[in-house]
Amino acid sequence: MGDENSIGIFDSGLGGLSVLADLIVERPRDHYVYYADTHYAPYGVKSRGDVEKRVLEVVDELVTSGIRILVIACNTATSVAAEIIRKKIDIPVVGMEPALKPAVEGNTGKTILVAATPLTLREKKFTSLMEHWRGSHRVLLLPCPGLVEVIENEGPDALAVDEKLKSLVAPYECEDIHRLVLGCTHYVLIRHKWQQLMGDHVQLIDGNKGTLRQVMRLLQEEETPAETRVTLKSSSHNPETIENMKHILIQQLILRGFTEDFIQQFIKIYTEEE
Ligand code: DGL
Repeated sequence: MGDENSIGIFDSGLGGLSVLADLIVERPRDHYVYYADTHYAPYGVKSRGDVEKRVLEVVDELVTSGIRILVIACNTATSVAAEIIRKKIDIPVVGMEPALKPAVEGNTGKTILVAATPLTLREKKFTSLMEHWRGSHRVLLLPCPGLVEVIENEGPDALAVDEKLKSLVAPYECEDIHRLVLGCTHYVLIRHKWQQLMGDHVQLIDGNKGTLRQVMRLLQEEETPAETRVTLKSSSHNPETIENMKHILIQQLILRGFTEDFIQQFIKIYTEEE
């Protein structure tokens, strides 16, 4: 299956499927190729240098396959490599960042918790974001080492994910928190678990909308292809991993209001061997 002229999307694993699902809802008739770097996941607990090197390899592979726009559906990869990628390739690049700006808007005197990978929170990009938007807001940081691994290995629905989340959130008083920024696309896949744990009074904010807006703006002049086509790939080349990706993508589309019948009829999902 050729990827030529597709919208290329990548993440270290499953997380970016939440971004892909949002894109399909907004722009159903297009061709998408999704690359999960499962074999090298997680990125968020590795060194900047290792992640940068790997991300550039992935981008090279995607660009060589002929994609027309690149969506980095990963906050960690964006923090580390977006600027370098933009200098290296000549197609549009859209990245992601923890949605601090929408979290502080109209939110005077409230407490915001930003959950992201340790690497995202350590990076200069996030420090600059904080300097720019924090103002007098109370912003607490929640690095979540180990959470992506549990989601990748056990699946977003697993009980082990609830246990991991509980232990990460334990040091915080949830009653004092008003907004939670989901600063990693993997965390968006488990937003209902965050909500349940933090309580209904906490407003969850993710960066998917901002990314989606940028992609839509870049593509607004383009005509849409006749059919919806999605190709799923993983650096693990494991058929089980790719079947799991397909299952999670369908789950995410159903969560956004698509029916199973509609998906089967109108969204052609291929895996890399097909
Ligand atoms: N999903 C990615 C993000 O948004 C990173 C996960 C990882 O640690 O690999 O940051």
